[in-house]
Amino acid sequence: MISVVVIGAGNVGSHLVKAFQSAEKVNLVQWYSRDKMSIKAPTKGIELCNDLKDLKSADIYIIAVTDKAIEALSKQLPFENRLVVHTSGSVALKKLDMKHKRGVFYPLQTFSKTSDLEFSEVPFCIETMNKEDSGQLKTLATYMGSPSYMINTEQRQALHLSAVFINNFSNQMYRIAHELSDYKSVNFDVLKPLILETAKKVQFTSPYNAQTGPAKRNDQVTINHHLRTLESHPDYQLLYKKLTNSIKTTHGLKKL
Ligand SMILES: NC(=O)c1ccc[n+]([C@@H]2O[C@H](COP(=O)([O-])OP(=O)(O)OC[C@H]3O[C@@H](n4cnc5c(N)ncnc54)[C@H](OP(=O)(O)O)[C@@H]3O)[C@@H](O)[C@H]2O)c1
Repeated sequence: MISVVVIGAGNVGSHLVKAFQSAEKVNLVQWYSRDKMSIKAPTKGIELCNDLKDLKSADIYIIAVTDKAIEALSKQLPFENRLVVHTSGSVALKKLDMKHKRGVFYPLQTFSKTSDLEFSEVPFCIETMNKEDSGQLKTLATYMGSPSYMINTEQRQALHLSAVFINNFSNQMYRIAHELSDYKSVNFDVLKPLILETAKKVQFTSPYNAQTGPAKRNDQVTINHHLRTLESHPDYQLLYKKLTNSIKTTHGLKKL
């Protein structure tokens, strides 16, 4: 049995709490949020806390708050020499206060309070200052049914950067596509199978091999037509040109 305290009630904190509640071998000791009233998730049977001074003893304290608040919050914790981890992709391990046993428990997934998640689909990137603490974090991931990997700060920051391209930038592409299809009164649903197939294809082939479309085919007639269509959206036209050139460069073709 591993006992945990979750600090933070945002997207990640809320999902972790839900996962710990259903993990037989995890004892969720407390859930800290500076504003208990802001917790929208069901809290039956959970001990809530809004004062750091009231935190109880646990094997692991998981700080799942806004990146810029992690360092200060770790200093404010009223104890020392206990295992304290954060869940950020970009904050260095050493930003946690030295008085703690320090670690990172970064879930490489996209979390929204409104969207359910299977933790078997959430790989945890683990890093610890002391080697002996990594075992406990690996066990915690196992208890949640999640895979885990030992990843150092530099590697994690590179993964986080990759995740921004994969998730945030792709999602912005979906948003633009949604706007362009709405503009012609076409339901966005028509495009959803394409979104799934694009993501599915790279599970079996490399992104390099998976690329299709006018840029890869060097189809200048279609590219010019698209650029003309985007004349009323100069920002999107610029983005289209930059991405087209990026694909062309990757595939050894002459840029626009
Ligand atoms: N969302 C994701 O997809 C994702 C994925 C992997 C890792 N992460 C990482 O997980 C961490 C949490 O992200 P999130 O998406 O859950 O953030 P979030 O939804 O914006 O929630 C942030 C939480 O931090 C609390 N908070 C902010 N400043 C605080 C302070 N000074 N003291 C105490 N609590 C404070 C907020 O409390 P209030 O509600 O009172 O403001 C809120 O509960 C971040 O390090 C993030 O990089 C996020």
